[in-house]
Amino acid sequence: MIDNFKYVKNFIGSDLISYLSSWSLNTTDYIGDQQVPMSHFTHSKDAPLYHHLLWYLLPRMNKETGLDLKPIFCYNRIYLPGAVLNKHKDRAMCEISASITLEYYYKDNTYKWPLCMGDKPFIIKKGDGIIYKGADIDHWRPVFIQESPSWHHQVFVFYVDKNGPFKDLKEEINNDIVDENRAFQDKYINCN
Ligand SMILES: [Fe+2]
Repeated sequence: MIDNFKYVKNFIGSDLISYLSSWSLNTTDYIGDQQVPMSHFTHSKDAPLYHHLLWYLLPRMNKETGLDLKPIFCYNRIYLPGAVLNKHKDRAMCEISASITLEYYYKDNTYKWPLCMGDKPFIIKKGDGIIYKGADIDHWRPVFIQESPSWHHQVFVFYVDKNGPFKDLKEEINNDIVDENRAFQDKYINCN
């Protein structure tokens, strides 16, 4: 993958989108993470359904990037009115990332909510996604300005290059491995 990001059409089909969003809307009861307090979220270590999405999308990710990738984790958020994603770069575990739009409901059905890669805004259609080098490029969203009960569901899949500097990171299937990966990253960053 040469560029820092790439828009990809038809990443996930409509039946699977409906299934994932239905599952999350009916089961996700966490409120907010550190990054986006106005959201519900699930890490794939707590949800085999989302863990398998990493493997389901792996052949497509390999094809789109031209790399041999290793799944690390999957995360999804249901953003609520007032949510904002500040400009940031991700951890080493997000070396090769994809952000894919699932279901959403906007009270104003003409509203559009962009994901920005650097200074370039993208309106990602349902089922489409952007593959991006999460640890290299700044990405962010402006405030989600919609009235309750609007919401927006987005899923993120994270991989590392099997031939890259983070090849020893492990699939995050439990809290111990999440901690191991964080320790690996801290050591790597301290060494550079
Ligand atoms: Fe990010």
